[in-house]
Amino acid sequence: MEKREIISKFPRSREQILLILHELQRHNPRNYLEPEDLRLVAEYLDLPLSEVHDTVSFYTMFSLRPRGRHIIRLCDSPPCHLAGSWSLLAALKRELGVEVGETTEDGLFTLELTSCLGVCGVAPAMMIDDEVYGNLDEERLKDILDSYREGK
Ligand code: FES
Repeated sequence: MEKREIISKFPRSREQILLILHELQRHNPRNYLEPEDLRLVAEYLDLPLSEVHDTVSFYTMFSLRPRGRHIIRLCDSPPCHLAGSWSLLAALKRELGVEVGETTEDGLFTLELTSCLGVCGVAPAMMIDDEVYGNLDEERLKDILDSYREGK
């Protein structure tokens, strides 16, 4: 879908900025916002470009750099630490061959950390794109990654 078309689905109101940016990023196969996106949003909402830029920089869910097709966000808050998220992080790095903030060579995954996902009852937890996974262990982690590799 063309970018202007995506943007014009939203009411022309400052309150829509996060939703619009999120939708633009979602439609980008590399999961990021391009300079043109910020310019179009500023123009549509009649805001200074610097304000759109500040908004994008403030929220960690947005990226100004190309990322993988799927974004893995491992919870990095204390309850998940206690439940073993550090060893999961090591397993993720090993399995994907990347450090936090990097994208796999095949462009499929970007590994990120996040604060509490709000599902501490099933710690340790992570999100891939919009889906939350809890009660993780290494084996389950591998199965989940494989399902994405197979085109989930
Ligand atoms: S601390 Fe990890 S989900 Fe809450």
